[in-house]
Amino acid sequence: MSRIHEALKRAEQERASAQGPVSEPLAPEQLGEQEAMPQLTGGPSITAGMPSFANSYTIDSLLARCEKRAWTPDLKTMLFFNADEQAYGTEEFRTLRSRIYQMREKQNLKKLLITSSLPKEGKSFVAANLAQALVRQHGRRVLLIDADLRGARLHQALGTSVTPGVSEYLSGETDELSIIQRGPMENLFFAPAGRLVSNPGELVANGRLKFLLNRMEPIFDWIIVDSPPAIPISDASLLANYCDGVLMVVRSSATPFDIARKARQEFRDTQLIGVVLNGIVAGSSPYTQYYYEAYGTGNGKPAAALR
Ligand SMILES: Nc1ncnc2c1ncn2[C@@H]1O[C@H](COP(=O)(O)OP(=O)(O)OP(=O)(O)O)[C@@H](O)[C@H]1O
Ligand SMILES: [Mg+2]
Repeated sequence: MSRIHEALKRAEQERASAQGPVSEPLAPEQLGEQEAMPQLTGGPSITAGMPSFANSYTIDSLLARCEKRAWTPDLKTMLFFNADEQAYGTEEFRTLRSRIYQMREKQNLKKLLITSSLPKEGKSFVAANLAQALVRQHGRRVLLIDADLRGARLHQALGTSVTPGVSEYLSGETDELSIIQRGPMENLFFAPAGRLVSNPGELVANGRLKFLLNRMEPIFDWIIVDSPPAIPISDASLLANYCDGVLMVVRSSATPFDIARKARQEFRDTQLIGVVLNGIVAGSSPYTQYYYEAYGTGNGKPAAALR
């Protein structure tokens, strides 16, 4: 039984003295067809059950169980770890943060998938820096998940270990809290990709990732999921079904238009909330190197740049 299951069980048992016995939550592998909407046996859906769990066991005490790690981030690309609040490029991520908050006023938006059509367009760069920008807002808790089981990179950028991580969790070897790390930046939590596996596609498709996201949803203000590229493999479109919205990264002067359009077709109109144009170098201003724009209609329409 996972530690979250144990915490949930204890919380429910405490309440049970007044309300009678409750059932244990089902493990994902027991859920079968029900895993799309996990249920407490004979009770409410797990998403409905989570707030009471969160109330009974304070979120802080739960998260204190996540292992504290001494990250050594790459300061050139992990912009908000720089001591300078106005470090090169941070302002653009603050603007992106504002845009997605504006979108959140109009639609349910907490679990965000960051993807792109091809490798090396800056998905991990955008995912990590967006997570850092979000956590700079007082009291906001952010979980950054490396769901790129084929080309894990975020652990390197953050300077931490890759295991235990998502692949161990999806293989059923460990529980939720065991794969989440706490680092030096308050309220930023990180689940690395885990060890390299021979069957990443099958693991991503086995339903446990959705279970993990549902479990974590009541605990965090934002969950940022870094993904593999959308074109060569299907992981990203599968992951998009588990998230509330997709941000697509396009590398300036690099991503061919047709490829970007093809990748865009991997996602439903309602899934794609915007496009981040990464790596623009325009003019001589020092602020243009990390330039991007997020085009979001807020009503789930495709990004203007990709129509
Ligand atoms: N705007 C940027 N400015 C400076 N460096 C950047 C920028 N965007 C990306 N990089 C760097 O380019 C490299 C590739 O970026 P990143 O790893 O984020 O791409 P990716 O799309 O996640 O690649 P993959 O598909 O392999 O996962 C990294 O070293 C990253 O730090
Ligand atoms: Mg990446």
